[in-house]
Amino acid sequence: MEIKGKKAVVFGGASGMGRATAELLAARGADVAVLDRPVSAGAEVAAALGGSFHPVDVTDFAATEEALATAVEALGGLHVSVTTAGGGSVKRTLGKDGPHDLDSFRRVLDLNAVATFNISRLAAVHMSRNEPEDPETTGERGVIVNTSSIAAFEGQIGQVAYSAAKAAIAGMSLTMARDLGSLGIRVVAIAPSLFETGATEKIPAERLASLVKDAAFPRRLGRPEEYAKLALAVIDNPMLNGQCLRLDAGQRFGPK
Ligand SMILES: NC(=O)c1ccc[n+]([C@@H]2O[C@H](COP(=O)([O-])OP(=O)(O)OC[C@H]3O[C@@H](n4cnc5c(N)ncnc54)[C@H](O)[C@@H]3O)[C@@H](O)[C@H]2O)c1
Repeated sequence: MEIKGKKAVVFGGASGMGRATAELLAARGADVAVLDRPVSAGAEVAAALGGSFHPVDVTDFAATEEALATAVEALGGLHVSVTTAGGGSVKRTLGKDGPHDLDSFRRVLDLNAVATFNISRLAAVHMSRNEPEDPETTGERGVIVNTSSIAAFEGQIGQVAYSAAKAAIAGMSLTMARDLGSLGIRVVAIAPSLFETGATEKIPAERLASLVKDAAFPRRLGRPEEYAKLALAVIDNPMLNGQCLRLDAGQRFGPK
C-alpha cells in the first residue's frame, strides 16, 4: 500500500518502537494519530509529527473503541493500524510462593492478546469502509501491524504469561488475514528480539549484553527505527500477509 496520503493510527505511539513508526509514517507522508496512555508523552510526540493524540488505556476495551473512533474521525479515515502497546510480568509457573496467580496471567493476556485483537477487529471495521486501491495495483483497503516478541517462540524462565500472550498475537495473524482477505485487509505481526526502548531502559547494561551475546549479527539491541523500517516495509508490500516476522539479528533466546 502506498504510504503517502494514507491515514494511520499507532497504539503505543508515544515511546519506543511505536513512536519510531509514527515518526517514519509521518515522514513518508501519512497522516498519523498517536494513541497511548494519558500519562505518556503522546501529546508531545503527536505535536512534533503534526498529528493528533488520543489518550487511552488499551485494556479498557470500550474506551479503546471510542478513542479509535475519535482518532479516525480526526484523520478522516483509516488505512493503517499499528499496535505496539504491550508489556509483561516476571513470574514462574511454580515459584517459591506457589503457583503463578491467574490474575496477573490474565492481565498480561488482556494487555497484549485481547487488547491487540480488540484494536484489530475495530480497525478492520473502519478499513472495510474504504474504497479499495486500484485492483491493477494492490486492491487493498487496509493493513494491520501487531507486535509479538521472540518470547512467543523461546520464552525465558519467568516469561510464561508474556510468552503465551505474544504467541497469541503471532498465532492470530494468519487466521485474521484469512478472515479479512476478502475485504483487502492484511494482517502481519512483528516479533522483535531485545530492542532499545522504554521497556528495556532499566535493565542493567551487563544483563543486556548477556541477553544479546548469542545473536548472529549484529550483536546488539535493536533500534526502534529498525522496527519502524520493517513496519513500513510490511505496509508497502502487498505480498506480506498472515504471518509473524522475526526481527532478531538471528537471536534465539536461551532459558535465562
Ligand atoms: N523492547 C523490547 O526489547 C521488546 C522486545 C520484544 C517485544 N517488545 C514489545 O514491543 C512493544 C513495544 O514496546 P517498546 O519496547 O517500544 O516499549 P516502550 O515502553 O518504549 O513503548 C510502549 C508504549 O506502549 C504504551 N502502553 C503500554 N501499556 C499501555 C496501555 N495499557 N494502554 C495504552 N498504551 C500502553 C506505553 O505507554 C508506551 O508508550 C510491546 O508490545 C513490547 O511487549 C519489546
